[in-house]
Amino acid sequence: MFLEALSPVTQQLDVQLSFAINGEPVSVDNVSPAMTLLEYLRLSGRAGTKEGCGDGDCGACTVAIVGEGADGQPHYQAVNSCLIPLGAVVGRQVLTADGITQCTIPKDAFVKEPVTIDKLHPVQSAMVETGGSQCGYCTPGFIMSLFAAYYDGTPDDLSVEGNLCRCTGYLPIRRAARMVAEAAPQDRFAEQLGASSTALLPFAYMTDNNGHSERFYRPTQLAEVLDLLQQHPDATLVAGGTDLGLEMSWHRQHYPILISLEAIAELKQVQHTEASVEIGAAVPLSHIEANLHGIFPAMDEMIHWFAARQVRNRATLGGNIGTASPIGDLPPVLLALDATLKLAGPSGDRTLPLANFFTGYRQTELQPGEVIVSVQIPRGWTAASDRRLTQSYKIGKRGTDDISIVAAAFVVDVDSSNTILHARLGYGGVAATPARATEVEAFLVGKPWNAETIQAAKPLLKEAFTPLTDLRGSADYRKLLVVNLFEKFFVEFP
Ligand SMILES: Cc1cc2nc3c(=O)[nH]c(=O)nc-3n(C[C@H](O)[C@H](O)[C@H](O)COP(=O)(O)OP(=O)(O)OC[C@H]3O[C@@H](n4cnc5c(N)ncnc54)[C@H](O)[C@@H]3O)c2cc1C
Ligand code: FES
Ligand code: FES
Repeated sequence: MFLEALSPVTQQLDVQLSFAINGEPVSVDNVSPAMTLLEYLRLSGRAGTKEGCGDGDCGACTVAIVGEGADGQPHYQAVNSCLIPLGAVVGRQVLTADGITQCTIPKDAFVKEPVTIDKLHPVQSAMVETGGSQCGYCTPGFIMSLFAAYYDGTPDDLSVEGNLCRCTGYLPIRRAARMVAEAAPQDRFAEQLGASSTALLPFAYMTDNNGHSERFYRPTQLAEVLDLLQQHPDATLVAGGTDLGLEMSWHRQHYPILISLEAIAELKQVQHTEASVEIGAAVPLSHIEANLHGIFPAMDEMIHWFAARQVRNRATLGGNIGTASPIGDLPPVLLALDATLKLAGPSGDRTLPLANFFTGYRQTELQPGEVIVSVQIPRGWTAASDRRLTQSYKIGKRGTDDISIVAAAFVVDVDSSNTILHARLGYGGVAATPARATEVEAFLVGKPWNAETIQAAKPLLKEAFTPLTDLRGSADYRKLLVVNLFEKFFVEFP
């Protein structure tokens, strides 16, 4: 690893951010650690990476970073460079579309020398052969999503679900993905990956821009995070940065002190017991998707519809809860599954049912100085139950890469005579916080799981929430979805 001399995070502050772009070490100083990687790439003349939306929705800015895959090994991961703050890139290798071609690259990107292209990368050749590019604006992003998938053996529709193309149409791009799907790459990138480390070393950085001091800390111990929060009560925690990145790049929010949770081993563990699964708050959703598949079907379904690959590679469970959005997709699932949060703070650890965590619009029980450590989800069915019926649903304006109008997750345990023993109905997008329909749950228990019970529950469900009208949907539409999604659940799981 090229980045060796790092200081203990609480003692000494570095004045440079160091990482590698297309194999070349880069060190920058005097820049905001909250500057996005995309902004840096383009300002430094690496304009092959494009900016479309600037908020994670179009994929034009996709680059690959070397990160820890769900199997714990180094993998190329497609990420949106418009959402990643430069501080989060420290010590990492970044690859861009202009760096994966074997070509003679001029030392200075501004020197007007012809660039001799010796050999396109196989995913680039496939896109040329299938005619997968017209205006080409989206192409570098598609290339990098396909590039990352190529080395995982998964170039398919899902690998490019976070990339939009407005003029070519998707068929040629899908053909290009199929063309490279069979290959078992043995090239310099595969070799580089084999020799890479994913260990994220600690660092602390400070810059002073025109009298505005900005800091970025990446500690490796939870105790250090708690310590830093005591020293800097105004600091902001950043995990995957997919919510905060949007605040920084789109809303131009200023975060003078950021504390990264990415290198905290305690927050990245998944513990299985007979009774429960405990997921560290900083575990990326793509790891949950790959490693916990089949344990909680309602979670599998919701993660499938959660954003797109680039976002899931970075977004964490702790971030989805910590952001406390009323339209966060995983809280309704976790509410239905009776999840409990483990929190750590200056006066020690405590546990709290997720149902008691959200207190108002974007407000939570999290006290100053506290961190979400993990989410514990019980596996168990209710004693004496014969089967567990469970599913989740997300209604958005488009299937992939969109936020919910309404999200719902249901868990119903029934006994051998089809009587409901336990019911949980979690919803998002219908109140100021993610919420359970507790009155309806109480109504259902003891009743038979049949069409009459569902019909009897519908008027209660209709009045369970008082949603708002906004640009995504009217209050009446949302109320209707609350009822209809539960009925759909019954139709699918009679
Ligand atoms: C293009 C795009 C699509 C998206 N699609 C979806 C979607 O389909 N469904 C959905 O629900 N969301 C979606 N999101 C929102 C976002 O991706 C999720 O909320 C994600 O889970 C946030 O996780 P993160 O690790 O990136 O959080 P960050 O951005 O790092 O942090 C979010 C907030 O949580 C706090 N936080 C993070 N970790 C902790 C912790 N351990 N303890 C205490 N506080 C913490 C941070 O301080 C911050 O306030 C989307 C975002 C984008 C940009
Ligand atoms: S610019 Fe659109 S996703 Fe980054
Ligand atoms: S080729 Fe023009 S947007 Fe895709």
